[in-house]
Amino acid sequence: MATMAPPPAASLLLLPLLLLLLPVLAPARELASVGRQLHAAAAAAADDKAPPSTAPAQKFVLEPLPYNYSALEPVISAQIMQLHHDFHDGVEYVGTLNAVLGPLAGSGTATLPDLVGLVGRGALPPDLELVVRNFGGGHWNHQMFWKVMAPPSSANISRDNISPALSAAISGGFGSVDEMLSRFKLLADGHFGSGWAWLCAAGDGGLRLLDTANQDNPLMGVVLKDPCVPILGIDVWEHAYYLQYGPKKPDYTKAWLTIINWQQVSANYDAAKRGDLAFIGTAF
Ligand SMILES: [Fe+2]
Repeated sequence: MATMAPPPAASLLLLPLLLLLLPVLAPARELASVGRQLHAAAAAAADDKAPPSTAPAQKFVLEPLPYNYSALEPVISAQIMQLHHDFHDGVEYVGTLNAVLGPLAGSGTATLPDLVGLVGRGALPPDLELVVRNFGGGHWNHQMFWKVMAPPSSANISRDNISPALSAAISGGFGSVDEMLSRFKLLADGHFGSGWAWLCAAGDGGLRLLDTANQDNPLMGVVLKDPCVPILGIDVWEHAYYLQYGPKKPDYTKAWLTIINWQQVSANYDAAKRGDLAFIGTAF
């Protein structure tokens, strides 16, 4: 049976000293905090930039789907689309954002992509950071998700819509569209738990594939130090497919690859290169 060893004599000797120092150490911590804030302010001033606004410019809005609930059938059922868009994106993500951040609407200048991009970068008040990460990320991700899908009858799903710039980036990064999609599918199928698989554009225009948990995305500092702008993303939360595909997630991802709106993905790539995140997802 294990027994606890008596404290070393040296620790006992240090205890009175620590008790004497406690009143000094606490103000020292406060001074360190003030020091860090002054340093951040000085750095912002030196860069000639104001600290980023962390309050939204206006309330958040659920945009309507760009097609009918049944338009993606037989790949995604109307029931899934209605629940997914109206409840998960609308009631859950937009509703929570407005419940928490709505009272601040108009007191700042931040757009939704501004706020999402600040997650994990030390700029958001701690009590708001988790709300922006989960519900702000959720809303931005879904507003992009609705747009990168198109009905099976739409001409936009043809690979002929892949722009020369995006085609060159895919060839340079992965060799071919088929190879890129094969790796994308592996990430989606292999993702453990709720999350997303992404194709994103880095600052140098190069493309990357990665998967993230929950509603995180590669704009966030919790995912990447340098943001990578999503141009294509698949939702692999169970709410996206389980009512139709049950546990057969690879069947969902296989079918999903046939309804990619390449017109939109190409436009997203152009927008990523010019830094227009509102075009890809939504401003609010
Ligand atoms: Fe979802």
